[in-house]
Amino acid sequence: MVGASNPMISRALQESLERIRRKMENIRFKIAVMSGKGGVGKSMVSTNISVAFSLMGFKTAILDSDFHGPSIPKMLGVERAELVFDNGFKLVETKYGVSVISIGFLLDEKTPVIWRGPMKANALRQFLSDVNWGELDFLVIDLPPGTGDEALSVAQLIPGISGAIIVSIPSDVSRVVVERSVSFARKLDVPVLGIIENMSYFKAPDTGKIYYIFGKGGGRRIAEEMNVPFLGEIPIDPRMATTCDEGIPFIVKYPDAEAAKAIMKIAEEILNTLGVKRP
Ligand SMILES: Nc1ncnc2c1ncn2[C@@H]1O[C@H](COP(=O)(O)OP(=O)(O)O)[C@@H](O)[C@H]1O
Ligand SMILES: [Mg+2]
Repeated sequence: MVGASNPMISRALQESLERIRRKMENIRFKIAVMSGKGGVGKSMVSTNISVAFSLMGFKTAILDSDFHGPSIPKMLGVERAELVFDNGFKLVETKYGVSVISIGFLLDEKTPVIWRGPMKANALRQFLSDVNWGELDFLVIDLPPGTGDEALSVAQLIPGISGAIIVSIPSDVSRVVVERSVSFARKLDVPVLGIIENMSYFKAPDTGKIYYIFGKGGGRRIAEEMNVPFLGEIPIDPRMATTCDEGIPFIVKYPDAEAAKAIMKIAEEILNTLGVKRP
């Protein structure tokens, strides 16, 4: 860690980590969503799973910690929200029951920020030590893409993560990706709740024929071989991109779609894995 040799800095670090811990004391479950790389639908999954929890009656918030593409506020239609500071930052409420805190609220769209690695973690640490989470059943954490240092240093700021969910696409659900993800989770000392295979297939609406656009994943098989739970597969639905842009969660706009049902089932699966009953 930065400045570990400097006792002043490391004390400041310890103090803010302790502050984050206290602020997060009343969160029942913290779930980190990770991926092997960007663009596999991690933020789409974080958003829709959170909305699913909220529809089931759980008090849920999302932490968007992806510096490269903080997309959660847009997906929930609160892109223009202003952060309010009242003895700490208040969670931004959305129309869908889920509240959100995003690193994007600190960034100015027009001025690209070029932060070096340690600065990002430090900025996020200071930010997190000032957020008032209140009482939550679930906090879903959208981590930066990959299983490298950046995702790790963000995840290490958050105490007591209950479990990690891995999102990947068929060609990406390889043994290597699963292995990397498992070792990531081990470093954090958190259990892998399971793997979600996104963009598994496309079912033609007219003929019902199934196309494996990104290859046939075998996600379930690899998960079994590696001894991690398989949480389910989500098909490709071209309407997904539009809902992300419109700021309406897919499961809210198209609850009857196969992809929406798959997401709801995955949310149930996560509850089972955690041993949580619906309120
Ligand atoms: N199952 C899917 N079907 C169709 N489009 C999808 C699906 N999952 C994600 N997308 C789209 O892919 C793009 C990338 O998704 P996003 O969640 O932002 O990825 P990540 O957070 O991993 O970078 C978005 O435009 C999203 O709408
Ligand atoms: Mg993302």
